[in-house]
Amino acid sequence: MEIARDALLLLHLVGFAALFGGAFVQVRDEVKVVNSAMLHGALIQVLSGVLLVGVIEADEGEVNQAKIGVKLLVALVIAVLCWVNRRKESVPGGLFYALLALTLSNAAVAVFW
Ligand code: HEM
Repeated sequence: MEIARDALLLLHLVGFAALFGGAFVQVRDEVKVVNSAMLHGALIQVLSGVLLVGVIEADEGEVNQAKIGVKLLVALVIAVLCWVNRRKESVPGGLFYALLALTLSNAAVAVFW
C-alpha cells in the first residue's frame, strides 16, 4: 500500500506540474489557450487525488474531509473549465488567470491546511 500511495503522490505532483506549467509558459503570450498539458494535468489531478484518498483510507489512514472536499470541488471546476475550452483558439485573460489562480490555491490548500 505504501508503494501505491507514493506512486500516486508522484503522479499527483506530475499532474500539478503539467497543469501549472502548461499555463505558466503562456503568461507572456498574447493569445492564451487551454493546451493539452493543462487539460491532461487537470484530469490527472482529479483522478490521482481521488485514488490517493482511496488508498490512504484503505490503509486505515485519516484524511481531512473538509480539506479534501474543497480540493475536489476546486479541481472539478478547473477540469470542467479546461474541458469546455479545450478546442477554443483562444481563451479570455480572465478565464486563463482564474485557472492559474485556482491551481495555485489548491496547491496552497494542500500545503498550508
Ligand atoms: C488542481 C488540483 C490539485 C492540486 C494543485 C493539488 C496539489 C497537491 C500537492 C502539491 C500535494 C502535495 C503536498 C502535500 O501532500 O501536502 C497534494 C497532496 C494530496 N492531494 Fe492534491 N491537489 C489537487 C487535487 C486533489 C484532489 C481532487 C484530491 C482528492 C479528491 C487531492 C488529494 C490529495 C491528497 C490525499 C494528498 C496527500 C497525499 C499524501 O499525504 O500521501 N488533491 N496535492
